[in-house]
Amino acid sequence: MSPRGFAIPDPELLAAARAVRENAHAPYSRFKVGAAVRAASGAVYVGCNVENVAYPEGTCAEAGAIAAMVAAGETRLTAVAVIADSPTPVPPCGGCRQKLAEFGAGATPVTLATTAGATRATTIAALLPGSFDASHMDRS
Ligand code: THU
Repeated sequence: MSPRGFAIPDPELLAAARAVRENAHAPYSRFKVGAAVRAASGAVYVGCNVENVAYPEGTCAEAGAIAAMVAAGETRLTAVAVIADSPTPVPPCGGCRQKLAEFGAGATPVTLATTAGATRATTIAALLPGSFDASHMDRS
């Protein structure tokens, strides 16, 4: 159990990521990804990847879930789940690791999953060692 009483891995969070993955817009890569974050309130926010014919304009599932959380007025996440139809539990891209670190603690649990049922439990700190944070802008 997490300090807030949610199971780790969080089955509700993984189920939410699995469900939203179906809505991914991925006609170019044909690689659908779903993500869900549990915010400090306990609410779950979801996102899927949204690709664009101008390829760099596409957005990742994690970015969508984080945007939904922030739009709802929350800025702290306590757990993350990401799922894709990948051979091994899908690792977040570098940019998404930085985005997760913005809103979660290093110890925040992250569950990576495949649609076939494999999971890998990790943390934000393990995904982004030596991360850049606000303290690195301190000149005093
Ligand atoms: N993708 C995600 O949504 N999250 C990740 O962590 C890895 C990659 C998406 C981006 C793109 O739409 C597709 O997967 C292939 O890279």
